[in-house]
Amino acid sequence: MSTFQVTRTLPADATTAALRSDVSHGLGSEPKQLPPKWFYDARGSDLFEEITRLPEYYPTRAEREILIARAADIATATGARTLVELGSGSSEKTRYLLDTLTGLEVYVPVDVSESALVQAGEVLLADHPDLAVHALVADFQHGLVLPETPGPRLVAFLGGTMGNLLPAERAAFLGSVRALLSPGDALLLGTDLVKDEATLVAAYDDSAGVTAAFNKNVLAVLDRELGADFDPEDFDHVALWDAEHEWIEMRLRARTALTAKIPALDMAVSFAAGEEMRTEVSAKFRQESVRAELAAAGLGLRHWWTDSAGRFALSLAFPDSG
Ligand code: AVJ
Repeated sequence: MSTFQVTRTLPADATTAALRSDVSHGLGSEPKQLPPKWFYDARGSDLFEEITRLPEYYPTRAEREILIARAADIATATGARTLVELGSGSSEKTRYLLDTLTGLEVYVPVDVSESALVQAGEVLLADHPDLAVHALVADFQHGLVLPETPGPRLVAFLGGTMGNLLPAERAAFLGSVRALLSPGDALLLGTDLVKDEATLVAAYDDSAGVTAAFNKNVLAVLDRELGADFDPEDFDHVALWDAEHEWIEMRLRARTALTAKIPALDMAVSFAAGEEMRTEVSAKFRQESVRAELAAAGLGLRHWWTDSAGRFALSLAFPDSG
């Protein structure tokens, strides 16, 4: 008998409060910046799904290749009875794990989007009638509390989303994941890898302009949610490789000098012509940087798997004993 339960740990107005605070802080700083999580309203999520199918955007296909090739190894190495997936979204890649983790009893998808969770949960249950799905509406960056479920637990954080966190945020995030793990539990982490600049930049500046539309969508979110009057057409999409930090940066560059009103925050924001606002970092990793960040959080890297072209990696890590 299958069960499907949804737990909401975010107050209904938490999202609005967080958006207001991020916008007033980010647009009030110099240089201006916004956190990438605000891309993902319904249209932004659709655009992201479209990005994953672009010829230039290799990470999704590369990660899928690794999951298909290594799902059996992951099952053997973890013996997982509970799978927790952070930022599960459409749970599309999760299928490869659910199909192969034969001892799995409970699936805990965690996402800020309740609609994504319910949709994905219903699809999965059709194929896995014996699975208990305990969906969690929560922000994995802030004080995640997991339901009591049978161990060993496998916590999966796929898609390279950890790269969207800044280094200090990553350290805090990995520390909080480590705190959730008991001996025998494991973390499965997807990370995009450092490679030649042209390949990286093309993945974030595709010729069809889908990533540009995705980037500008954050302005439409501010317009709708905060009553702002940004015109996305007043900005150009910028994607650049920061070789020092080894991350891709997306920015929006004002085409002319302009001032936007944000009534909900009682705020007006002025841009000089050509001024750029950072909307995303997407960090790229090496085996040694992943190993070091995991170790700093008390996690030992046990398996490192890449796709055949060496573009993307899945890491399997276990908590250090003692
Ligand atoms: C959410 C981490 C998968 O950083 O590659 C895609 C988001 N941004 N194109 C990434 C994104 C621009 C993406 N991830």
